[in-house]
Amino acid sequence: MMLGEKVENFVVKREDDQFKRLNVIVIGAGYVGLCTGIVMAHIGHSVLCIDINTDKIALLEQGMAPIYEINLEAMLAGCRNNLSFTTELPKRLGDTDIVIIAVGTPSKENGDADMQYVDQVIIDITSKIEEAQDLIIVMKSTVPIGSNQEMFRRVNNLLSDRGVQANVNFVSNPEFLREGKAIYDSFYPDRIVVGGNNDSAIGAVKNMYYPLLNKTFIMPQYMDQNFESSLPSLVVTDFLTAEMIKYASNAFLATKVSFINEIAGLCDKVGADILDVSIGMGLDNRIGKGFLHAGLGWGGSCFPKDTLALQSIAREYDYEMPIIEAARTINTRQIIFVLRKIQGLLKVIRGKKIAVLGLSYKPGTDDIRDSVSVEIVKRIVRLGGSVSVYDPVALDNARKELASDSVNFCSSIICAIESADAVLIATEWQEFLEVDWREVKLKMRSPIIIDGRNLLHKKILSEMGFTYVGVGR
Ligand code: NAD
Ligand code: UGA
Repeated sequence: MMLGEKVENFVVKREDDQFKRLNVIVIGAGYVGLCTGIVMAHIGHSVLCIDINTDKIALLEQGMAPIYEINLEAMLAGCRNNLSFTTELPKRLGDTDIVIIAVGTPSKENGDADMQYVDQVIIDITSKIEEAQDLIIVMKSTVPIGSNQEMFRRVNNLLSDRGVQANVNFVSNPEFLREGKAIYDSFYPDRIVVGGNNDSAIGAVKNMYYPLLNKTFIMPQYMDQNFESSLPSLVVTDFLTAEMIKYASNAFLATKVSFINEIAGLCDKVGADILDVSIGMGLDNRIGKGFLHAGLGWGGSCFPKDTLALQSIAREYDYEMPIIEAARTINTRQIIFVLRKIQGLLKVIRGKKIAVLGLSYKPGTDDIRDSVSVEIVKRIVRLGGSVSVYDPVALDNARKELASDSVNFCSSIICAIESADAVLIATEWQEFLEVDWREVKLKMRSPIIIDGRNLLHKKILSEMGFTYVGVGR
């Protein structure tokens, strides 16, 4: 359906005698559930993916991806024999070994994770559990500390209310995939974390992941066949620690980005170049080069909500988390800094036309949840500017969110920059690097680039006659 993906067929390796094929149900066919379901099917399990969103399931049944994620449709086509879709749990769960929960846990107004979707799924699953059944419930949704333990108890209480005796266990198995690289990350995770209190349930989840842990799966054909990665590490721990590993990881990554953005602000003042600072810092193995790319700040469906949820949990203990608080503050002010740069260059935004390139919260996805780009478009409109927006895949998702007479949705970069007073790079899509900037310059009213993602070559663009402003450069 999207971006002309190649459809290929895959063969699943079965000679591995340590691998036991399981019947797996994945509940929630979003970014996490769908990618998990597809990869589990590819490695040989029999997978049923369930989502209450009928439109999503209808598309999936036709082999079309409801979200943009590289290689998703090729993967869908390749594992159809092991993968089916539906909108409801089957009447009986008797043949099911593992149910994976991957529904959303968005932020509530007060910052808590909203558990309503998980709660509903727990009720649905429990109502289908039969007498003497063995079942493992794997929690992949990001849930507050203590949730798995609490749900384990709740399931057992609900079962005893129904007078059903069954052997149901929980395993916390947080997900670490990144959007835009979701299929790749699902095949090659750095680590797999399993938290629980039952060795046999943990053993079954290890078996589910056996082909990934031992890299015995057949690599999909479109992946670089010479690609070498080390085996993922397996972390076995208790429920609470598994839950904390997830929140701490996201909070740390968000903090790392905010740290480099804070340094970028000072680079702007003193005249240093943040790109070289990031390289110079990242070469220290103790620091590592990831998540040191300065720009407009972090968005997406996870860093904002998970840092909020962690603060919410801490508040229950009157425990302050000043580092996370600072990371969030820096992230918010980053948008203001970039807006000030636009004001500095245009003086008055009212009446000006600004082209905003990129709407998704990062490249490689059509997800606009908590996208910094979307927020900045809204602010420019509030300041009286008009905005022409372009994104290779996220335009449709943004249409409702940004519906305004002052926002013009464009189907190409060239259409967006026509007569613009300035162009803002808000998401670092490769396409923006490859466009002919000489042609762009001819069509703009004034050749001003605000590179909110430090994507472009400052020197080359300056030589072309652009006024170029990055973040910390
Ligand atoms: P999503 O919003 O893309 O998908 C969730 C899906 O669950 C939706 O399609 C929704 O219709 C479905 N759903 C809701 N209630 C349901 C029910 N009762 N039965 C069946 N389906 C139901 O969410 P996501 O981005 O995939 O995230 C899922 C969870 O994984 C969240 O807790 C998130 O924090 C976590 N997570 C997300 C990512 C990511 O990159 N998106 C990465 C790691 C962890
Ligand atoms: C993040 C984590 O990286 C995943 O491990 C985790 O599973 C996921 O959240 C989750 O829990 O949902 P994701 O949000 O998909 O994944 O994307 P990232 O690549 O982490 O980027 C998040 C935000 O940080 C984006 O807005 C991105 O533009 C920004 N970012 C990232 C920077 O500004 N600079 C960087 O150096 C890196």
